[in-house]
Amino acid sequence: SNIAVAIDGPAASGKSTVAKTLAKRLGLIMVNTGAMYRAVAWATIQHGVDPADSAAVINLLDRVDFTCGVENNLSTVLVDGVDLGDALRQDAVNSRVSKVAAISEVRELLVSMQRDYLELGSVVMEGRDIGSVVFPNTPFKMYIDASEEVRRKRRAAEGIIDDPTARDKEDSKRKSSPLVIAEGAVVIDSSEMDVEQVVQAALTVLRE
Ligand code: CDP
Repeated sequence: SNIAVAIDGPAASGKSTVAKTLAKRLGLIMVNTGAMYRAVAWATIQHGVDPADSAAVINLLDRVDFTCGVENNLSTVLVDGVDLGDALRQDAVNSRVSKVAAISEVRELLVSMQRDYLELGSVVMEGRDIGSVVFPNTPFKMYIDASEEVRRKRRAAEGIIDDPTARDKEDSKRKSSPLVIAEGAVVIDSSEMDVEQVVQAALTVLRE
């Protein structure tokens, strides 16, 4: 049956790059769960909903269609049929996403869509709660970390206006599924490593 590789960690820790590379080499589906939370944040902008107003956001979930799929072994998310691409990485989304991600009804909906991916094939899934909530029973769990300084530099190098560490603070203190090191996860500190070294460390975890 299909397997799930769970990759969690703070913003700009390099987990997306590692997850993508790993999935490609192993021929697995790569699922970016952050894009799903970003899609909900994007919908609040489009519909003029305050992301901190849980009732309004929950109501929005019924009015907007979020569809997840796969293209070329990469997860996709459509909002009312539209693939938003890079629009999901804009500053207005960065500043709202942790707020919608703190709402348990939002998480319940997205977690169930995330679990459904396993019906399509084996996956490498990256996010904040994959090893702790989405697939707590998978033996393949990693937590990719990096120092605050390195994470700020990596984000700045991408040319994105974003304070990843501010988002991490919000993500770590929330009540519903805060960012934690899942039980059984192997911690990889990527501060002093390049992508290939992190990928090799991840492959070692999978072989164990
Ligand atoms: O790319 P980056 O690592 O900065 O962020 P992301 O993975 O796109 O996630 C954006 C935001 O979505 C995070 O700051 C969390 O608030 C939320 N998120 C979450 O709560 N749970 C997940 N499994 C994935 C993302």
